[in-house]
Amino acid sequence: MAYNLLKGKRGIITGALDENSIAWKVALRAHEEGATFVLTNAPIAMRMGEINKLAEKTNSKIIPADATNVADIEKLYVESMEHLGGKIDFVLHSIGMSVNIRKNIPYTESNYEYFSKGIDVSALSFHKMLAVAHKLDALNDWASVVALSYIAAQRAYPFYTDMADIKAMLESIARTFGYHYGKSKKVRINTISQSPTKTTAGSGIKGFSEFFDFAEKQSPLGNATADDCANYTISLFSDLTKMVTMQNLYHDGGYSSTGVSMEQLSEAK
Ligand SMILES: NC(=O)c1ccc[n+]([C@@H]2O[C@H](COP(=O)([O-])OP(=O)(O)OC[C@H]3O[C@@H](n4cnc5c(N)ncnc54)[C@H](O)[C@@H]3O)[C@@H](O)[C@H]2O)c1
Repeated sequence: MAYNLLKGKRGIITGALDENSIAWKVALRAHEEGATFVLTNAPIAMRMGEINKLAEKTNSKIIPADATNVADIEKLYVESMEHLGGKIDFVLHSIGMSVNIRKNIPYTESNYEYFSKGIDVSALSFHKMLAVAHKLDALNDWASVVALSYIAAQRAYPFYTDMADIKAMLESIARTFGYHYGKSKKVRINTISQSPTKTTAGSGIKGFSEFFDFAEKQSPLGNATADDCANYTISLFSDLTKMVTMQNLYHDGGYSSTGVSMEQLSEAK
């Protein structure tokens, strides 16, 4: 059901790779809620061509940008404002990649070149997107920026390796930039800490499907899906949550507040 929650708002949505991507679902919901927006992804990810289908469905323009490259990000904001006809009201950062995870390298043996790459792509890119917006004054007052995180930022999840540290940094950037941007322009910045979700990035993690089932049993409501995450994201982009900022918000069916579930206990017998 649509409520016109984003009517008249202009946005930038990163990270829609294919129809499983969390960003893909956010784009579909943002369109339903009346927003206009630009889709962006790394030029290399465009080669799959899937994003064209989403652009058609949501009547949006695609502007390629490598989120680690400040010049690309500047171009992204300038062209987005030109195309959409004004400053931006919401930004989704839905970007994550760890070479250490991709190559199955254990945390204790992390390769530091890969680690740095992971930090740049998955956390510093968030700072860069905020810093460029700040410098260009590209966001409207009360704009809302959301990035996606995972609970390994707070607790040890061995299989999540360097991404645990990288997500901790991402969440810290949301808090610290949230302070500065809140003071200067009332811009709000939050992270959503999402359940394990079956996407390209998620499924690339060793043991993901076993863990997905484990989390499903631990969460009284079950795992939150990508569609659920899109709904929550839309609420954060809307004016209904205008005083929420600098938060890491769990969106996990109750997982993070559950010590152990009866299902897990009975399986351990
Ligand atoms: N899937 C999960 O289980 C899960 C759980 C919690 C949080 N998250 C987070 O959600 C976000 C979205 O991931 P997803 O699960 O939808 O997977 P996904 O693979 O569909 O999306 C990741 C996106 O990052 C993009 N990307 C990678 N390098 C980039 C670069 N240099 N510049 C611009 N874009 C780049 C990819 O092209 C891709 O579109 C990530 O931050 C991820 O860590 C995922």
